[in-house]
Amino acid sequence: MTPLHAMKKCMYIEEVDVRVKQSAVSLEPWYSYTHWFPMASSHVMKEPVPRMQPAMMMFSSKYWTRRGMSLDSAMFDQQQLRHTGGQMSRRPSFCPINEQPETEGGASEKTAVVFSLKNEVGCLVKALRIFQEKRVNLQHIESRRSKRANEMEIFADCSCSKKEFHELVQLLKDHVNVISFNTAAHVWSTEAEEDDVPWFPMKISDLDQCCHRVLMYGSELDADHPGFKDNVYRLRRKYFVEVAMNYKFGQPIPRIEYTPEEIKTWGVVFRELSKLYPTHACREHLKNLPLLIKHCGYREDNVPQLEDVSVFLRECSGFTVRPVAGYLSPRDFLAALAYRVFNCTQYVRHSTDPLYTPEPDTCHELLGHVPLLADPKFAQFSQEIGLASLGASDQDVQKLATCYFFTIEFGLCKQDNELRAYGAGLLSSIGELRHALSDQACVKTFDPKTTCDQECLITTFQDVYFVSESFEEAKEKMREFAKTIQRPFCVFYNPYTQSMDLLKDTRGIERVVQDLRSDLTTVCDALGKMNTYMGI
Ligand SMILES: [Fe+2]
Repeated sequence: MTPLHAMKKCMYIEEVDVRVKQSAVSLEPWYSYTHWFPMASSHVMKEPVPRMQPAMMMFSSKYWTRRGMSLDSAMFDQQQLRHTGGQMSRRPSFCPINEQPETEGGASEKTAVVFSLKNEVGCLVKALRIFQEKRVNLQHIESRRSKRANEMEIFADCSCSKKEFHELVQLLKDHVNVISFNTAAHVWSTEAEEDDVPWFPMKISDLDQCCHRVLMYGSELDADHPGFKDNVYRLRRKYFVEVAMNYKFGQPIPRIEYTPEEIKTWGVVFRELSKLYPTHACREHLKNLPLLIKHCGYREDNVPQLEDVSVFLRECSGFTVRPVAGYLSPRDFLAALAYRVFNCTQYVRHSTDPLYTPEPDTCHELLGHVPLLADPKFAQFSQEIGLASLGASDQDVQKLATCYFFTIEFGLCKQDNELRAYGAGLLSSIGELRHALSDQACVKTFDPKTTCDQECLITTFQDVYFVSESFEEAKEKMREFAKTIQRPFCVFYNPYTQSMDLLKDTRGIERVVQDLRSDLTTVCDALGKMNTYMGI
C-alpha cells in the first residue's frame, strides 16, 4: 500500500464515520457524548481494543450459546422457579421440534446437561460420580457462578446412548437441580436425501472452487465480437483471465494498469451514461454514484480498481467483489451471492464501439452493479437469491437465475410515481435504458412465480421488464418463492464465520434462536435507552 493510498483510505474511513453520524441525527443527544468506538472492522486499526482474557471467553454467555445449549435457557427456568412459588421446575427449557420415538440403547450421540449445585466441598465430585456410575463419557465440562445464592452451575457435554442419557438425567434429578438438558439432535433429513443434493460452498473460501470453474473464458471471443480480429486485444484479454484464475479468497485484488485506449473507452461510457442517470436511474444509484466518484476514483479519465470498490462495498453493505475470468454457470454465480460476493470482470470492451458490448465488461460491473450493491436493502435482496440457490435442483437454479436476470440485470422499480431502472444491464446500456422506460416497453409486476418462466433475451432488448415497488418487497417475494424450493434443509448464513449453517436438526435451529434472542435483547436495550432519554 503506498502512503498516498493509505492516506486516501484513512480519509475514506473518516467520511464513512461522518455519514454514519449524519444518519443518526435523531439519536444525537445521547450518541454525541459516548466515547469513540469502531463502527466498522477496519476502524479497529485506529484504536487498540483490549483483548478478552481466555477465562472471560470461557464463561461468556456467547461461548455457552455456541456449545449448542445456553445458560440463557437456565434463566428461563429460574423465572419459572419464581413463578411457581419456589417449587423446583423440572421442565426442560429445550423442546425438540421434531419429536421422534427414541430407540433403546444404540450408538453414542452428543448430548448436554446443565445443572446447579450447592457451593460446598465435594458436591461436584458426587455429581460426577453419577456420570461414572451410568458410564457416560464426559467430553467437556464448564462451571460458572449461579445467580442463586451459594450455588454454582455446571455445563456438561456428554457422549452416550439415548438410553444411558435418559437414565443419567433421572438419577441426576434425585441429587442436583437439573436446569436444562438436550437430547441428541433430531434430524429431519436423512443422509440418503442429502446425497442427492448438489455440492455447494459451505464457507466463503470455497468460492475459489466455484469462481474458477469457468464455462467459457473471457478471452474466447465469438467471430462477431468487435475484438475478434484484434490480436493485441485478444492478448490483453488473456492477461485478465490469468489475473482472475490466480486470484484466491482473502488476497487483495490485483491493481490493473489500464492502457490509454482502455481509459478512453471507459471515459466515453462513463460520460454518456452519466447524462442519462438523473432521469432514468433509481434513487439508490443516484445516491451511491457520487460516493464512488469521491472514494473509488470513478472519473472519466480513470478506470476504478476493483480492490478500492470492494473495500467501499464492504463498509456500505457487506458485499465484496472478486475478479472472474469468464462465464460461470448460474449455480456457481448465484452461490457467490449467498456470501455477499459479486464476481466482476476487469477487462474493458473493445474500443471500436464504446457504447456496445456483447458481454459483461468492467464498465457494466462498475456502473451498473456496484452502485446498487452498496445499498443494504439491495444487498439483502441479492443475497436472498443466492441463499435460495444453495443445494437447489438444476431446475430450481434455472428459475432463480431467471429471476436474477429480470431483477438485478433488468429490473425496474417505482419511485415517486415514476419508473426507474435498477438493473445493471439497463444502467450500463444507453439504448436499452431509454427503451425500458419508454412507452414501447412492456412492463409487468415482478412475481417470481411467473417471472421465472419468462424467456431471457441476450442479443436484443427484452420483450418484457418487471417492476417492483421496492427492494424490500422484491426480497419478501423471493423469500416466499424460495419456500417452494425442495431441499432437505434450510441454510443460514453465519456472518461471523462467513460460512453456512445447515438448519436440519433441532440443535442447529436452537443456535440460531439463541443468536436472535441476543439480538432482540440488544434492540430492547436500545429502545429502553431511547425511551429514558425521551422521558417516555
Ligand atoms: Fe451483470
